[in-house]
Amino acid sequence: MSIRYLSEYKLFKIDTLRTSYIISITDTEGFIAHVYYGKLISDDDTNYLLRTYDNHWLPSELPQERLNFMNMFPFEFCGDNTGDFRENSIEIEDCNGNNAVLFTYDGYEIIKNGFNRNHEDLMPSLYNKSETLVIYASDKVLGIKLKLYYSIFDDNDAIVRSAEIVNTSDAPIYLNKMYSVCIDMENYDYDMISLHGNWGRERKIERYRIPAGEHRISSTRGRSSHQANPFVAILDSNADQNRGDVYGFNLVYSGNFTAVSEITQFGELRYSMGINPHNFRYHLDVNESFSAPEVVLVYSDCGIGGMSRTYHDLYRKHLINPDFVFKKRPLLINNWEATYFDFDDEKILSIARKAKSIGLDMIVMDDGWFGTRNDPNTSLGDWFVNENKIKCGLPELVRRINDIGLDFGLWFEPEMVSPVSMLNSMHPDWAIKIEGREPALERNQLVLDLSNPEVREYIFNSIKNIISSCNIKYIKWDMNRQLTDLGSSYLDKEHIGELSHRFVMGVYEIQGRLLKEFPYLFIENCSSGGARFDPAMLYYSPQIWASDDTDAIERLSIQEGTALCYPLSTISCHVSVSPNEVVGRCTPMYTRSKVASFGTFGCELDITKLNDIELAELKEHIEDYKNISDLVLSGDYYRISSYNDNQTHDSWMIISKDKQKAVFTLVQVAARHNNRELKIRLKGLNPDYLYKISSPLYKEDILLHGNVLMNAGLVIPYARKDFLTREFILNAVKC
Ligand code: GLA
Repeated sequence: MSIRYLSEYKLFKIDTLRTSYIISITDTEGFIAHVYYGKLISDDDTNYLLRTYDNHWLPSELPQERLNFMNMFPFEFCGDNTGDFRENSIEIEDCNGNNAVLFTYDGYEIIKNGFNRNHEDLMPSLYNKSETLVIYASDKVLGIKLKLYYSIFDDNDAIVRSAEIVNTSDAPIYLNKMYSVCIDMENYDYDMISLHGNWGRERKIERYRIPAGEHRISSTRGRSSHQANPFVAILDSNADQNRGDVYGFNLVYSGNFTAVSEITQFGELRYSMGINPHNFRYHLDVNESFSAPEVVLVYSDCGIGGMSRTYHDLYRKHLINPDFVFKKRPLLINNWEATYFDFDDEKILSIARKAKSIGLDMIVMDDGWFGTRNDPNTSLGDWFVNENKIKCGLPELVRRINDIGLDFGLWFEPEMVSPVSMLNSMHPDWAIKIEGREPALERNQLVLDLSNPEVREYIFNSIKNIISSCNIKYIKWDMNRQLTDLGSSYLDKEHIGELSHRFVMGVYEIQGRLLKEFPYLFIENCSSGGARFDPAMLYYSPQIWASDDTDAIERLSIQEGTALCYPLSTISCHVSVSPNEVVGRCTPMYTRSKVASFGTFGCELDITKLNDIELAELKEHIEDYKNISDLVLSGDYYRISSYNDNQTHDSWMIISKDKQKAVFTLVQVAARHNNRELKIRLKGLNPDYLYKISSPLYKEDILLHGNVLMNAGLVIPYARKDFLTREFILNAVKC
């Protein structure tokens, strides 16, 4: 693990345990070039890869063909309007209205230990970096400075990149675009994986050959979105879970983003990622700076699974709040799908009593407890308890819940205001809208203008007052509409193009302040299900509600897609009622419970309506989950088969780091061929350990070595009546 300047070759070489990233600076021009990213390689002179060895291409040698050079050179960060026609990384409008920009090298610095960028202290950022390379560059005509950052960790193969612009000129500028990453790679016939979806169908894995020209994955919705996720993988066309080169890119940001692949005229690949330039125009006064969010790059030569495990380890050790990340999560019940808006204190207490009897730890009171809210049409912003529903008052309700032996959590949707609300009647100018234009409504609500410090203060104080009034350990922070009509009564004409970015920074500020004030507070993020499942939200909340679709079979692909880069413990998975509220499918309790055991387990149904047999079964599954929750928190995840691919079954394993304990789960969705026994090769075990395998499917435990299970496989008998799902627990008995 090191970052070095190889002075004899004028190369920067960033080495992690298994990967190398190499940057070169051209002699006369000082262009910053991408040389290589991939498997760890020796310290040779790799400048030949730039294919400028005869120097006949360099503009200093052949100025009359400068444009041709610019349009094929592998830039680490691409300027604008100066000869490179591929996707640019930045657009600047200077005080004369011109928009050419080109950066050349000024110097570098290698910073050891614990470096954290100045993100106005708000932008989520990976922590405990071991070394950071800063490359300093500037546009010599504009007099504007650029810093490119590359950070590594002493226990992980990821490389974190980002960029910062400082207006060191003597006049204000507009920043119309600012990506975090540009990387010019060879295209070895690569595929791309991206995560697509919509409400109830988040993060479905799409895999396809990268098309010629530009291909864009993006959000302009003010949140990372249901439709696309700020994660992309570029991989060998024959790469699978276990084999092949895979490059992952994950943007640490929760707002509008863009990821662009571009296969050039020469068949090469430029990949860029950052804040979406759509509706983005940042005014930078003299000496002001703008920091782009970080992108986490992971290269794996062990297929998709290797990439996923690297992200999981990185996010658990360097992104998620260390106070919570490895601690047992509260096993909670949420009343949303149990009652929707139709509840009162008695109903909440009756659910709580049953929840305690089956071994749950917490009850979360969802939407509808405040203002006069009985449907989605009123009261967002009026954060005081509705005493027509919670007749005993909130502190008393919480006290009674605590007396039952449960903790209490509460739902908020802080970024919003209902047109029909006290808040809106007092401060109609606090909503995002353009004067004279009727703003689009979604779920009959408007978005608050978080660029305005008064609005942020109001939200912070509203939540603080409630949390200080009673024993609240957890909040579910929801965000149920997209941003439109970007107008603000706070930002003037110069700054209005900053609104969607300032909105996101406002969310970070409020969540950060809350955690400072209440360090014990557990925030679970949510956005119409899973529309804001991104690394930046994970910085503030150790888990995120994955989807409003709680159907166990639908959840298989949602959870598989989410786990491509996000750790299992971050994925909130609840057992809900059957038939399912979204798709109407009936699924056995066993299947619902084991699919919910993929991530952080919870319940989301009216357990007061379950009969004793159902309750006893659910209680048993909760006990089972308690036995594997340590694996979910800190184990290694292996995808064994995917229902998405094979259309019959889904299966996965989670294995403890010391390989002593594992869980293997199989969900049989459609009929097997002639109902034949399945033979499945397990993964990730210690080949030399002897494992005891326990499952309700076997009359007695089975003893097999890791090497047998991983090569010859495990046979899963066909059980006619009850074939849907099986969980197998593996414990090493002899090492
Ligand atoms: C969103 C969330 C749900 C629930 C409702 C309440 O849709 O995803 O879990 O909290 O809001 O209105």
